[in-house]
Amino acid sequence: MEIKIKSGDLASQKTPCLVLGVLDKRKLSAPAEAIDQAAGGYLRNVLGKGDLDGEAGRTLMLYGVPGVAAERLLLVGCGKPKDFNRTVYAKAIAAAVATLNQGHTSAALFTLAELRPEGADRYDALRDTVTVAMDKSYRFEQTKSEKKPAPPLKRVDLWVADKADAPTAELAARHGLAIAQGVALAKDLGNLPGNICTPSYLAERAQGLGRDYPALKVQVLEEADMEALKMGALLSVSRGSRQPAKLIVFEYRGGAAGSKPIVLVGKGLTFDAGGISIKPAEAMDEMKYDMCGGAGVFGTMAAVAELGLPINLIGVVPASENLPDGAANKPGDIVTSMSGQTIEILNTDAEGRLILCDALTYSERFDPALVVDLATLTGACVVALGKHACGLFTKDDALAAELLSAGEAAADRAWRLPLWDDYQQQLDSNFADMSNVGGREGGAITAACFLARYTKKLTWAHLDIAGIAWLSGKEKGATGRPVPLLTELLLGRSGARPTPP
Ligand code: BES
Ligand code: MN
Ligand code: ZN
Repeated sequence: MEIKIKSGDLASQKTPCLVLGVLDKRKLSAPAEAIDQAAGGYLRNVLGKGDLDGEAGRTLMLYGVPGVAAERLLLVGCGKPKDFNRTVYAKAIAAAVATLNQGHTSAALFTLAELRPEGADRYDALRDTVTVAMDKSYRFEQTKSEKKPAPPLKRVDLWVADKADAPTAELAARHGLAIAQGVALAKDLGNLPGNICTPSYLAERAQGLGRDYPALKVQVLEEADMEALKMGALLSVSRGSRQPAKLIVFEYRGGAAGSKPIVLVGKGLTFDAGGISIKPAEAMDEMKYDMCGGAGVFGTMAAVAELGLPINLIGVVPASENLPDGAANKPGDIVTSMSGQTIEILNTDAEGRLILCDALTYSERFDPALVVDLATLTGACVVALGKHACGLFTKDDALAAELLSAGEAAADRAWRLPLWDDYQQQLDSNFADMSNVGGREGGAITAACFLARYTKKLTWAHLDIAGIAWLSGKEKGATGRPVPLLTELLLGRSGARPTPP
């Protein structure tokens, strides 16, 4: 997607399509008002016919409007002024993009950011225009024999009434583009099936990213390396599959040599059948998405490298399959993790924490300022929070606040759940230092409590992204979340986000 910033007289802008907001009860946004005046009241006249009353998400295309240079006008309903928040704004942009992509419009000039949604500054609104437009133009066609033509919309121009706001808009466009590209990468990896997207495939894609961005160093640890590191928990999961596990390590050093890195650890389980504790058949295909934490690390690394942010960032992706096999983990098996702690595997389907605990121990070697892991870890988190927010777990209140606000700012929200030690006893085992499951109650919390036992030396937060990483049903597909949240966090840490006036 190409993006240009525009300002000046709106009526004389040459564009295939000018996108204008209309609020409830046919109230014109300021740019629409300006166009209406240039067109001698044409818009008010059309709206008077009643085809568009301003309901959020409705659109009306107008052709040959007198007095304006644009080839078309797209009126977009934005709802009631008092309800106009970022969600409604995204809905309006999405509706506009859908209409544009149904037709043959190759470029459009968006003015909706002038109608400032509640909770968003100009930078946010302009950036949302880019991320939503690209999100809605995303298609996954790689595994179709007949590819549909790419959506026609190739260029999104952003309107700022005041030219002094152009630098803010440039920044919003650059950041929005990088985030959207990271999201698209995470979606692509997530949507690929388990027979293509194996641990080895992920490792190759990581090497490819390293070639695309020279600042990104990529190292892939093989099972022999993991043996040497005594990663008994990770290796026990991989033993149930014919595909060898890979431990992918990204290293981006954009910051000062002495500044401690942030480490992102993403669960890269390329297919989770449950192992010997096998899952039911229904919707098991969706367990190809069990590597979306890893995909989120890929997408975030790519966004940060694209922007060249002045920070040090490490990405660690333990990649494995979880399948039933003669050599697979059996309920009751006891393994020794890299940390030395022993684990009784009472359910082989709680494999995410087994591969993550060794990856978390491994991340200690980077002497990190902060470690955030992201994992499609528990069905319980989906029950608790649904598909709107991921679960956030940390004992560090300041870090929790930082992650929650990054989620708000990026419209990719998290919600905090407790990590109290009261839950730890559910992991007691008669035979090992701990069990890998904590029973039915508070399943997302006990999973986080398990990980907490491996992060005692770290400043650490855990994101359970099981509910947000993909959508099911007719709209089945990866979402690319939480790439926006994590990139926002890193933009904040690197001081690249503008402070609102
Ligand atoms: N990958 C799953 C979690 C999952 C399930 C995510 C459904 C999204 C939808 C994870 O490996 C798993 O199987 N977790 C178990 C843990 C249980 C055995 C303690 C679960 O949630 O059922
Ligand atoms: Mn599982
Ligand atoms: Zn899993």
